[in-house]
Amino acid sequence: MSDPTNPHIKERNTPQWGLYQRENFMKQREGTTPLFNTDPRKLEERAKEKLTEGGWYYASSNAGMSNTHLVNRQAFYRHRLIPNQLIDTNNRSTRTTIFDHNVSAPIGFAPIGINKIYHPTGEAAVAKVAKELNLPYCLSTAGSTSIEKVAAANGPTGTRFYQLYMPHDDELTVSLLTRAWENGFDALILTTDTWQLGWRHDDVATSNYAFYRGFGADLGLTDPVFRSRCLADGIDPDVDIVEASTKWIDSVWHGQAWSWEKIPWLMKTWKEISGGRPFVIKGIQSVADARGCVELGVDGIIVSNHAGRQVDGAVASLDALEKIAQAVGDRIYVMFDSGVRGASDVVKALALGARFVFIGRLWVWGLSIQGEDGVRHVMKSLLADLDILMGVAGYNGVQDFNLDILESDPKNYTLIPEKTL
Ligand SMILES: Cc1cc2nc3c(=O)[nH]c(=O)nc-3n(C[C@H](O)[C@H](O)[C@H](O)COP(=O)(O)O)c2cc1C
Repeated sequence: MSDPTNPHIKERNTPQWGLYQRENFMKQREGTTPLFNTDPRKLEERAKEKLTEGGWYYASSNAGMSNTHLVNRQAFYRHRLIPNQLIDTNNRSTRTTIFDHNVSAPIGFAPIGINKIYHPTGEAAVAKVAKELNLPYCLSTAGSTSIEKVAAANGPTGTRFYQLYMPHDDELTVSLLTRAWENGFDALILTTDTWQLGWRHDDVATSNYAFYRGFGADLGLTDPVFRSRCLADGIDPDVDIVEASTKWIDSVWHGQAWSWEKIPWLMKTWKEISGGRPFVIKGIQSVADARGCVELGVDGIIVSNHAGRQVDGAVASLDALEKIAQAVGDRIYVMFDSGVRGASDVVKALALGARFVFIGRLWVWGLSIQGEDGVRHVMKSLLADLDILMGVAGYNGVQDFNLDILESDPKNYTLIPEKTL
């Protein structure tokens, strides 16, 4: 399968992602090294170049004692894949569809804010790689690059969705949704688990909140409604960036919860603006909430606990997925995130009933280490991992990821002291 002249390559409808393994194995012979594998001195130099020290803490911190993060990872160990032998997987496909988009794999870029604290190229670099790999990209309301610039980087044919932190200002919400739609963001994802940041010790202890230092307000600073709100408060959004950023983040997030009563308004507003494109709720963890989404006519849910960053001591997102998929998986498009670190995690989530999986920290780390190249390396490696796993375990496509390929032990949460990844 490492043979680049393998005749099946031409027959497959997805690239032979697995060849990325070969490419990296060849590097020693070529006198180079795979990305991220560099001598420690260079790493030190790179650390000095970092835009802000805060990026590491912000990306790695979890709610409270990190118990939800830990259990997110442990849940994957309860399930084991059952490989099948002597299956002709030569023409296997990683391809799938999401909301009418034909994409390379059931893997997308989860919405992550303030990318410029990880690398100066920020969201544009990530959106560019997403387009190249034909994977969906989600832009966060807390992004550090405008809707318009991200759309340009993602290109006319990129599959992109807009993640909303809903302002307590309907006119501003409408303005954001209109801009998102006009710039090709084809589904709306409302995140409901973050009315306020969870209590994250490290960020609090180091006073690490980039928004209050002027990062992460670009969607607001480029918005006509938000700019008029700033001017009304005596803040010039072109000059007083720190004040404007503080106002932005305080007005879209902090302290005020929305409730179910608001959802029909948001859904109707988005459908009117977009001509009926999908509306998704992200952050669902209970069967009751999942059923609530079905009753309201929501198109999709992302079973997510925000990578364990919001509620400490909560259920593992994968365990929530199992129950939710059983209860409503045939009535709503179920997606999953939180804790995916490799292809076998992707396959397990799909086997448990998710139709699509989103990746967060993996690409953030790639971005931090080496910008656009780092994101590309991480995501191509994940695709190669998936391609190879399917080849060696006898799976030909997403249709093969079902409960038959899993052996699950409901009690066995292997208590590995997980390297906090
Ligand atoms: C540093 C960081 C920032 C995040 N920012 C956002 C955000 O702006 N909007 C959002 O809906 N989710 C946000 N999330 C949650 C992700 O979208 C996603 O749910 C989570 O990262 C998936 O888990 P994983 O990182 O283990 O893959 C963030 C997560 C991290 C780690």
